[in-house]
This record gives sequence, C-alpha cells and structure tokens, in this order.
Amino acid sequence: MNNKVNFPKNCWYVAATSDEIEAKPLGRIVCGKSMVLFRAAEGQVAALEDFCPHRGAPLSLGTVANGLLVCGYHGMRMNADGKCAGMAGQSVEHFRKGIQTYPAIERHGYIWVWPGDAALANADLIPDLHWARSPDWAFGGGMFHIRCDYRLLIDNLLDLTHETYVHASSIGQPEIEEAAPDTLRKDHHVSVSRFMEDIPAPPFWQDALKGNNLDPDLPVDRWQVCRFSPPGSVMIDVGVAHAGHGGIEAPVERRASGIVVDLITPETETSCWYFWGMARNFNVTDLALTDSIRDSQLKIFTEDLEMLESQQRNLEANPERRLMSLNIDRGGVEARKILQELIASE
Ligand SMILES: [Fe+2]
Repeated sequence: MNNKVNFPKNCWYVAATSDEIEAKPLGRIVCGKSMVLFRAAEGQVAALEDFCPHRGAPLSLGTVANGLLVCGYHGMRMNADGKCAGMAGQSVEHFRKGIQTYPAIERHGYIWVWPGDAALANADLIPDLHWARSPDWAFGGGMFHIRCDYRLLIDNLLDLTHETYVHASSIGQPEIEEAAPDTLRKDHHVSVSRFMEDIPAPPFWQDALKGNNLDPDLPVDRWQVCRFSPPGSVMIDVGVAHAGHGGIEAPVERRASGIVVDLITPETETSCWYFWGMARNFNVTDLALTDSIRDSQLKIFTEDLEMLESQQRNLEANPERRLMSLNIDRGGVEARKILQELIASE
C-alpha cells in the first residue's frame, strides 16, 4: 500500500460530535495530528496538540478546571490558546513556552478542526448542513473508527451497487445493479445518481414507509443521489415513493426519504473516523422512528466496516496489484482526482 499522504490538510474535518466533549478532554488523531479537544471558558471548544510541554504526557489524559486544561501527570495548566497558564509550586518564568493550536469550531452538532495552515482557516468553508438547524428535519446517527484508507469509504458511498451484496437483507435489491449510474463532476464536486422505477421496496424502506404511515407493499420508485464534496463529505438523497407519483419529486404523503449523512475524517493514511447518520423530513417528532432508523443504519454500516477493513488488509498485502475501474467506479475515481488536486496544490 502506498502510504504517502493521501489527504489534504487545508480543510475543515469533523473531529468529534458535540456531545463527545463534555467535562473531560478528548484525544483524537486527525490527519496524523494528535489533538486534544476540550471546552474552555463559556463552553468554547479548543483543539491543542496532545502533548504537555512539561514532560510530554498526553493532555487528553488530564482534566478541565475553570476553563483550563490540566495535565493529568504533574498538573501543568494550559490555556485554549496553547499557552501555559501555570503550575502549582512553580515560578512564572517557566511558562512562556506554548504548544501548537488548531482552529476549531462547533457547528451543526459537530466539532470541526483545521489540521493545516491556520492562516487559511475560514469558518465560511464549513459545509452548511441545513437539516441540522431546521425543526422540519430529524437526525439520528453515530460514529465508527475504521481501519481503512478513508478513500475506500468514499468509494463505497459513491458506488451503491454494493448494497445488493453487502446489504442484501436491508437495502439491497437486484434492481440497483440493473439501473446504470449517472456520474457527473462539476468543479470540486461529484454526483452519482440512480433511479429505479416500479420495483418492490426492500425491508429498510418498507419500515420507513410504515414510519410515514404508508403501505409498504405497494411498488415504489426508488432514488439514490450521492454528492461528494472534498475532503470527506458524501450526502446521499435517498428514498422511495409509491410508484407513479413523481419519484424524487413525489409529495411527502407518498414517500419516505431522507439524506444519508456521511462525514469522513482521515485519522492516518490507513484509518479513518466515520460520522454517519440519516436526516429525514417526515414524521420528525417520532423519536422511536429516529431510533429504529439509526439502529438499522448501525447494522448496515457495520457490514461496510467489516468489508472495508478486510479490503484494506488485502490491498496492503498486495501493493503491486492494479485494480479495475468499471463504470460503477467513476464517482470514486473522480473524487480521488479532486483530492489529489487539492493535495498537489498544498
Ligand atoms: Fe454500504
């Protein structure tokens, strides 16, 4: 496996969900950088190098007191700006040295960090997740650590033919591979669309139809529109509508649909953090439905995790092998080209 850097650094990446950072600091590696995330004064989130300047202990093993990060080894106190704020029994002149900080912003329920050149970090570049701030949408999700190159996960999400095989008991059906995907690249974005008409709804979508009080046994029109934006965002418009009512344009009382949310962050060249979930705009106050969709997704994405980690091991064991690129792989190929352009420009 080619282990040269395979991710751009001058980007916002999701490092954690908001609820992962409460009273205690959190250690996380993002793009090969060991970071500690914590809440400073007034709950403001901060990201520092996970390295105490005193003796090199990971600060993530410490605590937070009065908005300061306190090293768990000898009690050195760190400010959100990476400067030492003092230590019991020590005089002030020891504390000039600071550590690396990373731009960090809490938005849409996630903590976003910028592992590259801090001077280029611009909050306006954080993607606008409109569903996260709208009462018309409900969201449920989770997070995985996956031992694979994050690009394998992007490939996976831009080629949903794998559903037929990997997810045969939930969202897979043979009609997926029979419908050719339409792949489009525009600037730094890729979309892969698939439309299937007058087919049976697979079990996951039957449950979703029931969740919207619709007959799950009627034939449906089904759609999947995958949208990749660098570095690691794949938002997929998915859904089914009772056949003949407009498909993706069908009114809400004829459909069950949502956005599969995939935010992918490289940990290293061969491992990643996967923040997944589903946003939906029907029956949004039904918390039991949110839980049941999340439980189904958890099961489905666990199937992907097992395949991706096995694929990664196989690729590492056979670095000389050249792989095929079929028409179904075009989305992933285009996404890799975009990432490579960004890496080269850095
Ligand atoms: Fe999958």
